[in-house]
Amino acid sequence: MRDIVEELEERRRIARLGGGEKRIEAQHGRGKLTARERLNLLLDPDSFEEIDMFVEHDCQEFGMQDNKVPGDGVVTGWGTVNGRPIYVFAKDFTVFGGSLSRSHSKKINKVQDMALRNGVPIVGILDAGGARIQEGVDALGGYAEVFQRNTLASGVIPQITMIMGPCAGGDVYSPALTDFIFMVRNTSYMFVTGPDVVKTVTNEEVTAEELGGAKVHTSKSSVADGAYDNDVEALTDLRRLIDFLPLSNRTGVPERPTFDVRDRVEHSLDTLIPDNPNMPYDMMELVQKVVDEGDFFEIQKDFAKNIITGFGRIEGKPVGFVANQPMTLAGVLDSDASRKAARFVRFCDCFDVPIVTFVDVPGFLPGTSQEYGGLIKHGAKLLFAYAEATVPKVTLITRKAYGGAYDVMASKHLRGDFNYAWPTAEIAVMGAKGAVEIIFRNSTEEEILAQTAQYEERFLNPFVAAERGYIDEVIQPHNTRRRVARALALLSSKKLDNPWKKHDNIPL
Ligand code: HXC
Repeated sequence: MRDIVEELEERRRIARLGGGEKRIEAQHGRGKLTARERLNLLLDPDSFEEIDMFVEHDCQEFGMQDNKVPGDGVVTGWGTVNGRPIYVFAKDFTVFGGSLSRSHSKKINKVQDMALRNGVPIVGILDAGGARIQEGVDALGGYAEVFQRNTLASGVIPQITMIMGPCAGGDVYSPALTDFIFMVRNTSYMFVTGPDVVKTVTNEEVTAEELGGAKVHTSKSSVADGAYDNDVEALTDLRRLIDFLPLSNRTGVPERPTFDVRDRVEHSLDTLIPDNPNMPYDMMELVQKVVDEGDFFEIQKDFAKNIITGFGRIEGKPVGFVANQPMTLAGVLDSDASRKAARFVRFCDCFDVPIVTFVDVPGFLPGTSQEYGGLIKHGAKLLFAYAEATVPKVTLITRKAYGGAYDVMASKHLRGDFNYAWPTAEIAVMGAKGAVEIIFRNSTEEEILAQTAQYEERFLNPFVAAERGYIDEVIQPHNTRRRVARALALLSSKKLDNPWKKHDNIPL
């Protein structure tokens, strides 16, 4: 008996070494942690339970039959984050560069199936060279098996990907099917085809970092939702994100104790809006003053900065925030902002996370580059996302809500549950000067000035909308947290169903 126990320990020791000490050293030398070190950081101490530690590949080509490593380049299992379960798989770059074989994909498929069946989130940590070149079509098929499961799990359990090394080919499409992607600066990159292939096909000379580094994907392509300086920072912050997320679409949001009070009054908000309507102010200040303890997890903070998206809590329960940011492009809605916010709204709606929307938007961005780039379709994405969402929706207009953007930003007409406005709100088809110049096209300058003042007086306030019931109440800025918190508490029993359908046809 003793011998068998010792043999088990010896087998485990070998498996834990992955590709061996030399390759582990090389991994550290590149500023990266190993797969197991990463899981230790992500999961609560002693909570990791490994599955399939001894699985090996069955490839018979290129001498691979004599080159087997237990675990086959991916560590899979489950553990807890602050006591709540998650499934995990972490590619081990020290074993065949973390590349995917048939056996390797079956290990991932097993935890994907378990996560979906049990209604528990799954996190993938990627650091890999794509399809195992020695395996050919078995590796390609293996990727498709992963993609199929990613797709079926979408909207049922949260799926998160950490890109912590090179990721090419098959290792970029699985992440793209998940809810959130985070990268590590300078050590991770993602592309469908690498710099060498790019050079051959398009004659462009580009480095891996320029082609698919964290900066590119967080600020240009919007493929990734955030970036960190190193593995430790990334995994620590991932624990914080997981705390905001429900386990599945059946569980509702997690709740945790808060020291913050519902009635916290913020007098500084009474002067947040500048006297000059063309001056910007920082909408993030409002978000942070409304959420519990100022704790806000921003999603895509380096992309389309004219709109803020992210998670906070109110009275201990997670809420998704969408807010126009007047500090960038005056908070205008353009294609990028619309796509960013639409995807976030849809995530919240899938997982029963209520949505709070703060509005200060001068309209949609005019111009050929926007129109040629499909602003109509992209703007419609956000419109569609808000219109189909059945979760509680609380909206507050702080200043401008002009034109189509008024409709889009969770207006009463899109089934907003509580639509508030500050006294500084201006709800109109467009700004006063533009409106008057169209209506009184042939008037003198003096007449235009007089008409502009009259238009401002009549329309640039929240009361016309409030008279019609499109705004439920004009509220004092200092009471915003209390009003939003009370609305959300009331709406916790909200029931609203859309008509039956196989699935919708969102304008992609
Ligand atoms: C088998 C691989 C491998 C792969 C790397 N290795 N990629 N083994 N299949 N795809 C092995 C190497 O042989 C090496 O083994 C070890 O991993 C580390 O690799 P290095 O090249 O030494 O590391 P580095 O210099 O850091 O370069 C990493 C890399 C590079 C950029 C990922 O290895 C690379 O370009 N690999 C090939 C990438 C690729 O073209 N994959 C196929 C994509 S197509 P030793 O024993 O020396 O440690 C694809 C199709 C699916 O994925 C599409 C589905 C939609």
